[in-house]
Amino acid sequence: MVTSHRFIVTGLLALVFTLPLHSKTPLYKKADAPVDARVEDLLGRMNLDEKIGQLNQRAYWHNDEGRKLFDPMIEAGGLGSLMNVNDPASADRLQRIAVEKSRLGIPLLIARDVIHGYKTIFPIPLGQAATFSPEIAREGARIAAVEASSDGVRWTFAPMIDIARDARWGRIAEGCGEDPYLTSVMADAMVRGFQNGDSVGSPTSLAACAKHFVAYGAAEGGRDYNATGVSERELRQTYLPPFKSALDAGAMTFMASFNANDGVPSSCNKRILTDILRKEWGFDGFVVSDCFSVRELVPHRVAANEAEAAVKCLTAGVDMDMEDGIYAAHLDSLVKAGLVSVDDIDRAVRGILRTKFMLGLFENPYVVTQQSVKYAPSHLAAARRAALESAILLKNDGDVLPFDRTKVRKLLITGPMADARYNQLGTWIFDGEKEHTVTLLDAFRDIYGDSLEIVYSPGLGNPRKSDPETMAAAVAAAADADAIVVAVGEDAILSGEGHCMADLGLVGGQSQLVGQLKATGKPLVMIVMAGRPLAIGREADMADAVIYSFHPGTMGGPALADLLMGRESPSGKTPVTFPSTSGQCPIYYNHANTGRPATGAELGIADIPDDAGNTFLGCTSYYLDAGHKPLYPFGYGLTYTTFAYSDLALDKEQYAPDGTIHVSFTLTNTGKREATEVVQLYTADLVASVTPSVADLRRFDRVRLAPGESRRVEFDLPVSELAIVGSDLVSRVEPGEFSLRVGPDSTRGCETKFSVK
Ligand code: BGC
Repeated sequence: MVTSHRFIVTGLLALVFTLPLHSKTPLYKKADAPVDARVEDLLGRMNLDEKIGQLNQRAYWHNDEGRKLFDPMIEAGGLGSLMNVNDPASADRLQRIAVEKSRLGIPLLIARDVIHGYKTIFPIPLGQAATFSPEIAREGARIAAVEASSDGVRWTFAPMIDIARDARWGRIAEGCGEDPYLTSVMADAMVRGFQNGDSVGSPTSLAACAKHFVAYGAAEGGRDYNATGVSERELRQTYLPPFKSALDAGAMTFMASFNANDGVPSSCNKRILTDILRKEWGFDGFVVSDCFSVRELVPHRVAANEAEAAVKCLTAGVDMDMEDGIYAAHLDSLVKAGLVSVDDIDRAVRGILRTKFMLGLFENPYVVTQQSVKYAPSHLAAARRAALESAILLKNDGDVLPFDRTKVRKLLITGPMADARYNQLGTWIFDGEKEHTVTLLDAFRDIYGDSLEIVYSPGLGNPRKSDPETMAAAVAAAADADAIVVAVGEDAILSGEGHCMADLGLVGGQSQLVGQLKATGKPLVMIVMAGRPLAIGREADMADAVIYSFHPGTMGGPALADLLMGRESPSGKTPVTFPSTSGQCPIYYNHANTGRPATGAELGIADIPDDAGNTFLGCTSYYLDAGHKPLYPFGYGLTYTTFAYSDLALDKEQYAPDGTIHVSFTLTNTGKREATEVVQLYTADLVASVTPSVADLRRFDRVRLAPGESRRVEFDLPVSELAIVGSDLVSRVEPGEFSLRVGPDSTRGCETKFSVK
């Protein structure tokens, strides 16, 4: 009796404690509830301070001061995101405060710039673009996400998808170059890689951040942070499409850019952040400011003080304030003063909460991924493949490459980038470690050292040095070598944020070094590792062969050695136009024709007769001292075989605006080696209501063929993709004639015409 009574009491107690507890589990904590419902439920429970806290992002300090500042801030719900936490113990410790000690247990969003790899460093994004392989870009992003999430990072500030037409701008390194279509394809691939496709809630996914929104790459004079003057028509035609592509791929966050376009800093540009991004495109994630860019409205001189800057940025559509703490400091009083509405704050909080729910942070706030994923053999192999496919053969006179092993038995390796462990990783590597880099010299010694005598002489200590003695030593070492490989380029620090150059020539004594090596008469192969297309015309003329690899990352050495030795054939193509001289910038292939296009018959300064009259030169659009042609056009790259394009055919001559053009042509490997060709399809609108581009890339593919092999290559191109943005800002296909070309780059190939009715 007593026992049964005890049972009853215990049972009742259990009911009392479990039932209410169960029924009180707030909706936002229920993993199976719809995300929108969870967001609204949580929002409804938050007080104003907690809401403002979610809009606050700070960079962590890994010291006692950091703990003292951030621990209580997190516990009070005063922080939505922390950046630069990059070890699992700190990530879990900080997350535990947020999840277990703050009133509502909202997890932190831990962010980091994971741009082209976390530990295993891939080629810089511009180099990845040179592969014309979305698969390489997707895999690179996926691997970066797996490695970064092992340290607690769940949000990357990538992909950077700013169109850049001026190589002086140091951040050209971080993007995919000048072409909106190529950049859009890569943006899609990178977003899917970071966010793990549809499995964005898995513990190894990172939320992607499409940046920098927008037109940042059009900085006047190629000087970073400078003003831009891109019309809305041009924004829609050229600069916005990659961002739309990132959004369509599921990018959960966007970053506002630093620049003021047409007088309006992006951080307070309502037209861009609200009218286009949210209302027109339906974005429901959140926008983060760039670092301190809310505060920077004051030096931009569009806000008198920080409070005014906060009002402008929040109401324009910047949801999270990166690093400057201005939202945290001012929003409360601004709401009380009626200058900011709670609705605006709720809008911002919603996007942030939605992202946290979608990432699965409420269910899995702590680090799950194993540390051993870092530098996993499969990651290194993928980075090597990326470096291999990104290398561009620009010149190969007399087929000096690949080296003929019967003739090249002793090889001189020289130049400041031949053994540049740190510099070959490129810009924006916060977590890459040079100890893991495999340089060109390492690779030759490790892979080919048994069959080849390798002599190494650095030539120059780093690319900026100019030391006659080290140069002389390299030249002397060339005396009994059968061939020379000279690796030149730029230090990583010469490109990237805030690192712009007015002169695109090789820095330091590198040009002299190449000249002196040339004078030895030995076969000379020049490798260039750089963050941008450099104006290397003079040095390329001196070299027998040139391979451009941008900064190739951790595994650049073996990739390049394999190419030089013929284990693989080059397949990269220029993702940007290479200027012949800095003064040609901005330069890009998809420019308008002008009313006076250059004909190619123009005279240069040396050919002008004395006392020539004012109109003698004919007045076309070119430079007297540099012509109108670039050093290498967009899409250009050679390989160890030759390819022929033939039998271009379209399925019709005329198409409806909603039709699809079926394009086919034959590609033949006419040389003696197996290789991959990046085939490219361009169209041009021959007459339009506004000046159209002379050519626009519409499709590309990598096609691998054995010697003598032919393949019919086919593309389907919806006519809707030929739309042009009119002066009324509406994008539409304009009826009329178009030309269509397939070929190896933006200037050559087989051409045909069709019309749209
Ligand atoms: C850069 C961003 C970067 C951010 C955070 C800024 O200076 O412009 O691209 O994501 O810093 O490090």
